[in-house]
Order: sequence, then C-alpha cells, then structure tokens
Amino acid sequence: MLSKKMEDALIEHINKEMHSGYLYMSMSAHSTSIGLKGFATWFMVQYHEEMFHAMKIYEYIASRGGKVILAEIESPPESYESPLNMFEKTLAHEQLMTSNINQLMELSIAEKDHATQIFLQWFVSEQVEEEENDNDIIARLKLIGNDSNGLFMVDKELGSRTVVVATDFSKGVTAAA
Ligand code: FEO
Repeated sequence: MLSKKMEDALIEHINKEMHSGYLYMSMSAHSTSIGLKGFATWFMVQYHEEMFHAMKIYEYIASRGGKVILAEIESPPESYESPLNMFEKTLAHEQLMTSNINQLMELSIAEKDHATQIFLQWFVSEQVEEEENDNDIIARLKLIGNDSNGLFMVDKELGSRTVVVATDFSKGVTAAA
C-alpha cells in the first residue's frame, strides 16, 4: 500500500504528465498552422508518449490500492516564436519533469517504498532519452539557422516519427503495452 504522501505526489505527477501532453498538442497545432507538418507529427507522437506516462502512473496507483483523483489541467500557450523556440521550451519543460521525477524518487526513498523506487526507475531512464532527443533537435535547428531548405529537411525527418507506445488504455497500460 502507498503512503498518503506518496499517493498524493504520484497523483500530482499524473497531472504534470497530462499537462505535458497538452503542451505538445498545442505545439503540434501551432506547427500545423505554420505549414510544418513534420513538426506537427513529432509533437503529436510526443503527446501520445505523455499520455502513456500518465497512464502508467494511473495504473500503478491502482495496483497499490490507491485511488486517482483528477485535477484541472493547466492551459498551454497558443503560439510559439519559432521551431527552435518550441524545442527550447520542450527541453526546458523536460528538465522540469526530470526534476519532478527526482523529487518523487527522493520521496519514495524517504518513505522506504522500494516498489515505487523500482517503478520510478523507468521514468528516470525515460527522462534521459527525452532530454537527449530534444538536445539533438535543438543542435540541428541552430545549425540550419534561417536556411529554409534545412528546415524543410528537418521537417521531413521529424515527420517520420511514429507512435511506439500504447494508445488504447481501455484494458490498462500493461495489457496494451
Ligand atoms: Fe513524460 Fe516528457 O515527460
């Protein structure tokens, strides 16, 4: 059974993951509106990843006898300065998420909750991958600067990203994964 403190912190984190999804969906919408369909695809795939993260925690809480109570999700911005700005905001957001995961891990250690420590390890590794992806794309966008051909190439490449996580959670994340 989860401690009340641990349960509340995990529930709060579900909201942060769903807000991340909402943020990337807004970046996808913005990308579509400026004709960058590849960027739009990349951010929509990221939206699905965030929902998967949220659902992993949702299912974990239930598996430990807890109950998820959902809160309001913060609105994302309507528009972004540039493709580079979207990825800089994405990286900054993921760094914040990494710090949130680290705080959850510290709490699980303080609570001597070994099961939650093991559960959170997946998220620790996932954050390394997410930050690395964002850093790679930022480096490329900085390299091309204002070159529209370069932007076209990156857009094409980002458009090849496909969803690799479960998206139907009707029978739970574990069953779907
Ligand atoms: Fe689920 Fe991108 O952090």
